[in-house]
Amino acid sequence: MKKILIHTLLALLLLGCSNGQKKEASMVPDKTWWKEAIVYQIYPRSFKDSDGDGVGDLKGIIEKLDYIKSLGVTMVWLNPFYQSPNVDNGYDVSDYKAILSEFGTMEDFDNLLKGLHERNIKFVLDVVVNHSSDQHEWFKQARSSRNNPYRDYYHWWPAEKGKPNFRYSLFDEKGDAWQYDSISNSYYLHYFAKEQPDLNWENPKVREEVYNIMKFWADKGVDGFRLDAFQFAAKDTTFPKFPDGFEKDFIQYYAMQDGLHDYLKEMNEEVFSKYDVMSVAEGAGRNFQEAHELVDADRKELNIAYAFDAVDIAKPEGYSLLKLKNTFTTWDKEFSKKGWLSIFLSNHDQARLVSRFGNDSEEFREASSKLLNTFLLSMRGTPFVYYGDEIGMTNIEFDSISQYKDVAAINGYKKALSEGVDMHKFMSDLNFASRDNGRTPMQWDSSENAQFTSGEPWLPVNDNYKNINVSVQDKDPNSILNHFRKMVKLRKDNEVLVYGDYQLLDENNEDVYAFTRTLNNETILVLLNFTNHDATIELPEISHVNQAMINNYHSVEINHSSIQLKPYQGILFKLN
Ligand code: GLC
Repeated sequence: MKKILIHTLLALLLLGCSNGQKKEASMVPDKTWWKEAIVYQIYPRSFKDSDGDGVGDLKGIIEKLDYIKSLGVTMVWLNPFYQSPNVDNGYDVSDYKAILSEFGTMEDFDNLLKGLHERNIKFVLDVVVNHSSDQHEWFKQARSSRNNPYRDYYHWWPAEKGKPNFRYSLFDEKGDAWQYDSISNSYYLHYFAKEQPDLNWENPKVREEVYNIMKFWADKGVDGFRLDAFQFAAKDTTFPKFPDGFEKDFIQYYAMQDGLHDYLKEMNEEVFSKYDVMSVAEGAGRNFQEAHELVDADRKELNIAYAFDAVDIAKPEGYSLLKLKNTFTTWDKEFSKKGWLSIFLSNHDQARLVSRFGNDSEEFREASSKLLNTFLLSMRGTPFVYYGDEIGMTNIEFDSISQYKDVAAINGYKKALSEGVDMHKFMSDLNFASRDNGRTPMQWDSSENAQFTSGEPWLPVNDNYKNINVSVQDKDPNSILNHFRKMVKLRKDNEVLVYGDYQLLDENNEDVYAFTRTLNNETILVLLNFTNHDATIELPEISHVNQAMINNYHSVEINHSSIQLKPYQGILFKLN
């Protein structure tokens, strides 16, 4: 799926400081709980099934609350669990104040929230309001006639005016965002699947409904909001023609359109400002300035920028570490004085972390999973960790389209077929990048279906579950899981890892990602070998290292100012 990228700008920007350069005095940003948070993202359909229907549910998550607590994470983001026909696994909401029956009841939700709060874990609600489901009462009313009071909750185009100017749809079988509806002889707009009609944010009634929904959940005690696809909410409702060649430019012409900031400011005034909640939207504008405009404190809009530049780097053919370093470094530099970032390399819209950014072979899966978790938890910004990555879950191999469940994969396949693209390549790319890779059931133990369900899982459990599971790793002090827990603890015990300045070292090193974090008089050196071979790095800082704070190998070879790192070795040192 396309995301809001700013790749063109990246080329124009310089890297941060180079090796050995003097550090600037560290600037401690205002301290806030959500900057110190470590977010654990749970895809409820796949976490734990309590009733044997093959679908994860809220009671299942409740069963695993102590496990979540044991990770040390401080916040849970749950993907949508509202009533939904599940065309897009809950991202098509038919009732924003009801729980999907497969997932449980409102009482289960209240118990889940209570259980999290009792364990000092906060909760982020996924708010899906760029669009609703076509089964939402608003849409059912709206489509029933042109005069219905709900008509203006959505975007319509009367067919007698001819076909509206083209708009691209990310999930539509034909890529067409205008769906003809014979009931009122009109087209309606859907940037995602045709069952996900876009809401009309120009309509103050829609906005009021949404704020009321958000307040309903905030009154229950949720601690944060994630705004799904919200950067597409504002539209020029005259629907002008986009310039030739740019009709599908989802970045320039669909995201961040006029009006968006007004909606966010209003949402802040109506909802966020009235509660102690954090807010994050999917995407972070089209450039740094827009990212700042979304999250700088004085803007009174959102709190945390969630940018896709880094996560989009991994491709089936691999990725360049230099590019990854450049991307994280540039973003950090841009946000070092103002604003706040999230740090992530995976979520429910991506394939698995270790399969994309590490090495999921038998030989290197463990080391590279630990390396990636070390990285995510030692950067400046709020880390968002996706369920299963704490045990190094991997991509699943699907060879036929019939195995996929994701609407994006299925409709993408139909579209590719109709466009005559190379289907062999399409399938192999899908195998690498499909969202279903990241949605397979959580692997709890070595029993059937990895203890996820006593029934037939909605999506197959990865065959490797007997090796890769919580129970096995829990008992092994050197497991990916226990390394993750140590890393979380280290971050929580060392404020420098949250607030400290970040400085890239040895920027042109193609194998090793090295950087320091500095706060007041304390500096931590982070060394990460992103390759499957030994790599040596030489830095003046190395002559000042103390004992390793964490290391995913048992030892490390230090020789004056150089260190030889083993494949995917990741180490943190305090500097004298
Ligand atoms: C966001 C969600 C994705 C969903 C889409 C439509 O990108 O993260 O899962 O399919 O919005 O709601």
